[in-house]
Amino acid sequence: MTPHISAQPGDIAETVLLPGDPRRAKWAAETFLDSPRLVNEVRGMFGFTGTWKGNEVTIHGTGMGMPSLSIYVNELIREYGARTLIRIGSAGAMQPQVKVRDVVLAMTSTTLSTPSRGILRELNYAPCADYGLLAAAHAAAAAKGVGTHVGGIYSSDVFYDERPDLNEQMQRHGILAVEMETAELYTLAARHDARALSVLTISDHLLTEEALPPEDRERSFGDMVEIALEAAFA
Ligand code: ADE
Repeated sequence: MTPHISAQPGDIAETVLLPGDPRRAKWAAETFLDSPRLVNEVRGMFGFTGTWKGNEVTIHGTGMGMPSLSIYVNELIREYGARTLIRIGSAGAMQPQVKVRDVVLAMTSTTLSTPSRGILRELNYAPCADYGLLAAAHAAAAAKGVGTHVGGIYSSDVFYDERPDLNEQMQRHGILAVEMETAELYTLAARHDARALSVLTISDHLLTEEALPPEDRERSFGDMVEIALEAAFA
């Protein structure tokens, strides 16, 4: 047990899917896993473990933002032995060719800072995805016929960002989308020799201000869960 996870040793699988929203963890486990069982609910942050095609999987919430994700990912890797960690979340599109409902597979993530800044200090570390997971997720998304983009994203510390000049520079430099967790996930995975990937659905568009209608959210989220599961066990 850890300060934030009450699971017993052995209750967490080596493969963990990480939605930000704990209720999404519950929905995904009940929808896609066989025999899902609740393994954590400290602070309402649900974790479920079950099987998918005979493989053991945990689906655990992370909360929003890198400080929250960092707590759960540190504990999942260091105390419970998680080895493959796939974020399934939403992002805001920053390029015209990236459309609402499309999937973005984050090859790397730019930041102003992460919780790891304290140890990396002046180093502009480039966090990157596990290539095997990335390639497998790309194949799984293509097989589904989902619009898919692979490239760099931005992990922001603020949702209500008031620096449009910064967005412009990121758009000029090809950043596909903004979310709030991936850079720290990739940095922690690298530090602990684990595999990580972020599979993101575009929920809103910074250029067109379009947003994913509520009735489409479940289907898009379900597609992401399947892409992540297929990539994990490819
Ligand atoms: N996640 C989904 N949309 C986002 C946005 N516009 N900014 C930051 N994180 C997001």
